[in-house]
This record gives sequence, structure tokens and C-alpha cells, in this order.
Amino acid sequence: VSSQYENILLEQPADGVGQITLNRPKALNALSTPLFKELNDALQKFDEDPSVKAIIIAGSEKAFAAGADIKEMKDLTFSKAYSSNFIQLWSTTITNLNKPTIAAVSGYALGGGCELAMMADILYCTSNAKFGQPEIKLGVIPGAGGSQRLIRAIGKAKAMEIILTGKTFSGEEAEQWGLAAKTFPSFEELMKGATGTASIIAGYSMMAVKAAKEVVNQSQELPLSEGIKFERRVFHALFGSQDQKIGMEAFANKTTDIKWSH
Ligand code: HXC
Repeated sequence: VSSQYENILLEQPADGVGQITLNRPKALNALSTPLFKELNDALQKFDEDPSVKAIIIAGSEKAFAAGADIKEMKDLTFSKAYSSNFIQLWSTTITNLNKPTIAAVSGYALGGGCELAMMADILYCTSNAKFGQPEIKLGVIPGAGGSQRLIRAIGKAKAMEIILTGKTFSGEEAEQWGLAAKTFPSFEELMKGATGTASIIAGYSMMAVKAAKEVVNQSQELPLSEGIKFERRVFHALFGSQDQKIGMEAFANKTTDIKWSH
């Protein structure tokens, strides 16, 4: 499958798990437009592929991604950026997938790399991963949601300091501050952990998984009372699914080998 792409690799490391590995090693996985087009295409295909139930986005041991491609952006003008709505394309596919995504971050996750990791549903990293929003050093600011998502994850105090100073923070700090769900001591452990979690998710009803992802993500958009109402409505809707009957009957009958319909 991977052969159609030049900047990413595809694999299925476990049953139901699709993995996309960013693969521009010479540029520390700098996120060029061709790379992003391929990433979006692969994400869309995995989202539609019934053999994939959870998606991992990974980089190399040295770099998840060192940011947007600075060499590509260097000569961009306001009129080109505005008329092409530069960067908007980045987040539309990944944030509109139905299936859950796990970002597995090792090494650098800077600028657009940090922003990409924050677009995933779950963020795992190595303890010495290097996160940051260094755009200020280039005379610009985060442009792919960094200022908004970092604040929601770690609060204004720390996010403001990081964005204004451009200083990096470690994977360990990312976990302590609530940006990362878990840290791992090595790249190998990270990839094993991400695959393990993706496999657990892949073993559940896809209907329930997609509903869970959707309601959790809505919490970032809606006021609490609206979010709670939305959650309750989706919860009600699942009683119209076969998988609710299958799951609850299996519990009542003490069956552990559950065959979900979705
Ligand atoms: C283009 C990049 C790059 C980037 C690294 N490279 N980051 N190319 N865009 N973001 C290239 C280098 O030019 C170099 O190519 C090769 O990758 C290896 O990088 P080195 O700098 O030689 O490696 P090292 O000394 O190990 O330093 C690693 C590093 C440094 C600390 C990560 O590369 C760095 O500071 N990169 C830029 C990080 C950054 O500012 N990111 C934010 C970008 S702005 P050659 O050809 O020389 O070997 C951004 C905006 C987002 O992301 C907003 C909207 C999307």
C-alpha cells in the first residue's frame, strides 16, 4: 500500500490498527504540502477501510515532526497565504475522522509538529520527547491551532509562556501538565504502547467507539450544559444499535467472546 506515497509509510501493526509513519528523515519530518496531502489521503482511506478501527500517527525516533516546512514557507506572501487559506487543509481531514487517532511522539514535535500531535485524539510520547511552539523565533505565531489547543490542554499560564518564549518542554512535562496521556521510556516501548491501546480500542464496537470519540471532542466546543445534553442524546441513540444489545446480553450471559456487528 505504501508505494503510492513518497513522504509517509503505511502498515497494519496489529489486527484493526492502521499506522501512518511520517517519513522525511532528511528534513526531520518537516510538514511540507506534499506530505500533508499524502497524510490526509491516507487518513481518509483508513477512515473508510473496514479493516482499520484505530489509527496511529507516528514519526521516527528522532523526530515526530520538526514543524511546518520552513523552506517552503519562506517566500510565501500574504496574498498567497490568504487566497489559498494556507494551513486550513492541515486540520480539516484529521479533525473530522470518525475513527480514533493516536499520535505517538518521539523526538521533536515542534511548531506544526506539536500542532499535529495535538489534533490526535490521544497523545502518547517518550519521556524525553521535545515539544514546543517556536514560531515566535521565526517572526510568526502558531497557525494550525497551537495557541488554542495548547491552552485547552495545559492552561493559559503555561501555554502563554511557551508560545511567547518559544522554549521547548519534555514529554515528561507534557504528561504532568495533561497534554500527553502517557509517556514511555523508549521509542520501541512507545510504539508497543500505542499499538496496544489501538488494539484495545479496535476490539470494541466501532459504533460505540465513534460515538465516544465524538462526544468527548464536543466537550472542547460546547458549553457544559449543551455538552451534557449532546452526550445524553448520543447515549440514547446507541440503544437503537445492535451492539448495545450484543454487549449487554454478553454481560448478562457471562460471554467474553463478543462478536460486534460494527
Ligand atoms: C524545513 C527543516 C525543519 C523545518 C529541520 N529541517 N526542521 N526543514 N522545515 N521545520 C531540516 C534542516 O534544515 C536540515 O536540513 C535537516 O532538517 C536537519 O536539521 P538540523 O537543524 O541540521 O538538525 P539539528 O541540528 O539536530 O536540529 C534539530 C532542530 C532544528 C532543533 C529540530 O532543525 C530546528 O530548530 N528546526 C526548526 C524547528 C522549528 O522552528 N519549527 C517550527 C516551524 S514553523 P539540511 O538540508 O540543512 O540538512 C511552524 C509553523 C506552524 O511549524 C504554523 C502553521 C502550520
